[in-house]
Amino acid sequence: MSDSIADIVNGVIDDSLSDEQVIDWLQNIFDNGLDEQSTITLTESMRDSGEVLTWPEDWKHLVVDKHSTGGVGDKVSISLAPALASCGLKVPMISGRGLGHTGGTLDKLESIAGFRIDLSIAELQQQIADIGVAMVGQTDSLVPADRRMYALRDVSGTVASIPLITSSIVSKKAAEGLAALVLDVKHGRAAFMSEREKAEALAQSMADAANGMGITTSVVLSTMDNPLGCAVGNALEIVESVETLCGRGPHDLEDLVCVQGGILLAASGIVGEMEEGALMIHDSLNDGSAFEKFLQMVDAQGGNRDDFSSDHSMLSSLGLLDEGVLSTEIYAEHKGWIEDIDAMSIALGCLDLGSGRKKLADTVDHAVGAIIETQVGDEVEVGDSLIVIYHRGELPEGLSESISSAFNIEKDPVEIKSRITEIIG
Ligand code: URA
Repeated sequence: MSDSIADIVNGVIDDSLSDEQVIDWLQNIFDNGLDEQSTITLTESMRDSGEVLTWPEDWKHLVVDKHSTGGVGDKVSISLAPALASCGLKVPMISGRGLGHTGGTLDKLESIAGFRIDLSIAELQQQIADIGVAMVGQTDSLVPADRRMYALRDVSGTVASIPLITSSIVSKKAAEGLAALVLDVKHGRAAFMSEREKAEALAQSMADAANGMGITTSVVLSTMDNPLGCAVGNALEIVESVETLCGRGPHDLEDLVCVQGGILLAASGIVGEMEEGALMIHDSLNDGSAFEKFLQMVDAQGGNRDDFSSDHSMLSSLGLLDEGVLSTEIYAEHKGWIEDIDAMSIALGCLDLGSGRKKLADTVDHAVGAIIETQVGDEVEVGDSLIVIYHRGELPEGLSESISSAFNIEKDPVEIKSRITEIIG
């Protein structure tokens, strides 16, 4: 079985297997699953289908990354990667674009004028050696097997298979030559896997595969029912990431950044315990060192750090002060406590404004989106602002109503729960 998996992956990349043959094989895995060892063999074979990054012996144990299964307003990476680098870790972060209603780190970073996400492998390695952090897109030479397999999964309805998702995600992380990895696996209404049991099964499978390949891996299970933080939309999320890098971020976002950072600092041996690492990340957000790392990364990747020297220059360079960008505010119609903010309604509304792609060929409007003015647990009076929508031209019909109905206001105070439901590993 192990040999045949490696042979099949070879057949995927050298085109000796036809699309029909590859689809038959994928369908078999989709229908029958794969045991843990075969999932590791598949993941290793996919990793080895292309280039695998190597790092100098004296700091290869410091090379780390994170992966999130995606959500609404999930901008953890943009604050976490520089914060980790400011604490001494090396972060060659390879991210993706928005998928359906979920946002993508690359789309957010491209709101920054001049920012290049297409570094070559040599440029990426040099930048990691120089400043410790880079945030880039997938290159053609890393894990080519995944490109063909993913495209064939897409057309054959075999995407939603735990071993196939595991091998796809973990092979790409393993090709970065990581020593440690943290996975943020979301569950809830606006998550890729809405049911907690399924998210847990995926989390365990990814952790087993990555640990089995020698990458020290932990999983944070977290809810994705409400948007993360207040900003949804690419440029708006960069502003909130900068706020977080300067110690002024929303609590739920800062909590995920500190916990995931703490896990990676402990896994790399920089600190003894995750809690100590979380405090170290918290300090880096408050003492300017994480923000300085972010500015170094912006400069190194073609942007201009001076764009972030004042609020006005930041908003202007991100296109948020364009005259064409209009704002519409939605107000509370009754008093009470915010019990729920439905992330899916907000995400679909923002998608309608152009913040993401409905089809692969769609262009993204980086300046549109929404800022949520209240959070779950807040008390509101009639007429208080709930959310401000940033858009161009008239709002699409019904959008204001659907975004307004995302907010549920109850008569009694509401308990605020942590987003983190479990940490595995
Ligand atoms: N993201 C990936 O990269 N691969 C999958 O299979 C699913 C999500």
